[in-house]
Amino acid sequence: MDFTPQELDTLIQKATKLKSMWKEGDPYSPLKNKTLAMIFDKSSTRTRVSFEAGMTQLGGHAIFLSPNDTQLGRGEPVQDSARVISSMTDVVMIRTFDHATVEQFATYSQVPVINALTDDYHPCQLLADVMTYVEQRGSIKGATVTWVGDGNNMCHSWMNAARQFDFQLNIACPEGYMPNAQLLAELGDRATIIHDAKQASENSNLVVTDVWASMGQEDEQKKRELAFADYQVNSSLMAEADKDALFMHCLPAHRGEEVTEDVLEGSQSVVWQEAENRLHAQKSLLVSLLVDQID
Ligand code: CP
Ligand code: NVA
Repeated sequence: MDFTPQELDTLIQKATKLKSMWKEGDPYSPLKNKTLAMIFDKSSTRTRVSFEAGMTQLGGHAIFLSPNDTQLGRGEPVQDSARVISSMTDVVMIRTFDHATVEQFATYSQVPVINALTDDYHPCQLLADVMTYVEQRGSIKGATVTWVGDGNNMCHSWMNAARQFDFQLNIACPEGYMPNAQLLAELGDRATIIHDAKQASENSNLVVTDVWASMGQEDEQKKRELAFADYQVNSSLMAEADKDALFMHCLPAHRGEEVTEDVLEGSQSVVWQEAENRLHAQKSLLVSLLVDQID
């Protein structure tokens, strides 16, 4: 949300260009001598590998910092850690629980701070997702996207993306698992709540879902399986969507829960392209932050 829609369009275009350069073996190393600090308070496969490989490809370096090995994990305050880490590095990436931690870190940081997932948002995933849609179908402007499942961090970032990239969002969540009410109000008529997942998917261009229990909610797994039983993306739900509709999932996926094996591995699924595009979209983000200063 700190970028304008125009800046985001440029960022996505640049990601596609960086992807083709990389595929052609054309080196691009504008981040020589630059360091990314990567703070992970939660697990990750895609985010860590994409940021770390991305920094290598751009000629820079990434440092993986986990709470097990840093003083942050032993209670050193965020505002102290932010001043120290940002005095030695060029950009910081944080994956943590409380969104306020990222904001507090950014307040005390002298370098850009990237949200690599909090309990509330996952914006880097949306850069890759929008890039994937654009690659497959052209502009996402005016498209209808249906979110099925939990009103979680991914749902919130799809809501922000609907505003920034100008598309319609149908939201199908069970009662008690709705997205943030204030964010919903801010979206106005750009978002439509339709509790029935099949009805919400009718004629949509893209169906998106995510796990029923996010990181930190493992204890609620059983309760959530009951609550989300009618929110599985399966072939009968996909049949309600447009015949050219795509399926996305940020991964990791739980086959047989929020999505069936046949949909995840089927012809409408672009989940593997989405995952790979994390690399290209975040390289573009890093270049935008460190090379072409936006402001
Ligand atoms: N989609 C995503 O962020 O995956 P990881 O948790 O593996 O980083
Ligand atoms: N909603 C999921 C996304 C994982 C990438 C979680 O927060 O665990």
